[in-house]
Amino acid sequence: MNSSSSISSENLVAYKKLISDLENFKKNIEKLDYIREKLQFFEVMNEVWRYFSEFDNDEVYEIFHQSSEFLELREFFYKSHQYYVRAWETFEAVSVLTSNSPLLSKPSLKDLNLFGFSKSGYLANINELSMVDMKDVKNIVLVGSGPMPHTLIFMNENTKVDHILGIDNNPEAVYISSEILKVLDLPKIQVSREDGIKFDYSNYDLVFVSDFVSPKSKIIDKIFETSKKSVQIIARTPTRLGNLFNESLEQNLNKNLFVSAEKPRHAGSKSVLLKKVNV
Ligand SMILES: C[S@@+](CC[C@H](N)C(=O)[O-])C[C@H]1O[C@@H](n2cnc3c(N)ncnc32)[C@H](O)[C@@H]1O
Repeated sequence: MNSSSSISSENLVAYKKLISDLENFKKNIEKLDYIREKLQFFEVMNEVWRYFSEFDNDEVYEIFHQSSEFLELREFFYKSHQYYVRAWETFEAVSVLTSNSPLLSKPSLKDLNLFGFSKSGYLANINELSMVDMKDVKNIVLVGSGPMPHTLIFMNENTKVDHILGIDNNPEAVYISSEILKVLDLPKIQVSREDGIKFDYSNYDLVFVSDFVSPKSKIIDKIFETSKKSVQIIARTPTRLGNLFNESLEQNLNKNLFVSAEKPRHAGSKSVLLKKVNV
């Protein structure tokens, strides 16, 4: 911390506790072999997640954000979180595809046993959809659809659009998600291996941008450059401690876009509806 002069004694205690808690999480995570001790790793990361979502002291967060500890801890948590999200989504996807899955005998979304953050992500999609004007939306694309494409599945269930595409630059994510979609028999949804930074968005009326994508603001710039004037963009961006996990959108937001609405998402994140200026 650079200066403690303007901080109340109560917040100084809270700040010190925050640093100590984060250092402890870091030590616990560092001790683990992510592959062989996968379940313990998930358990600690789930705890980190809960902690991040419950932390709501804006003043202490601001002090932490300006401190030298922030960048150091960000580097560590960013990498652990990248691995965690990918591994967890894959774990969920594989469990849905295993022989015990009700999907194999009765492919219905109601039987889809989502848990963890795919479930909370799926539920948060309701908030996102409530911000969108669906009147003229025919084609949807999601940048960063992941191994477990819950946003695509949600949109298929809850809209009447013609076509839903998920793009991901990770080939394993595309392969696993396409297996899930095959089992669920959802022909309106497709997934494709593409990099969000190079994709042409001109065919899409609604674009979702996952919290995990990188480089987020450059992807948003590409969406701006190639999309229709009337495009609606739902982008996920971190709040408070979520900034240790994912790239913030607001710091470098394209000047020709504005935030038209926003809703909370799950732990340390929110969704914003972006529109082009002068539309
Ligand atoms: C883990 S998923 C989360 C999305 C979630 N499954 C959903 O339905 O909303 C995020 C994905 O973003 C992908 N990703 C990251 N950067 C990307 C980029 N530049 N272009 C395309 N995909 C990207 C990662 O490979 C990862 O699979």
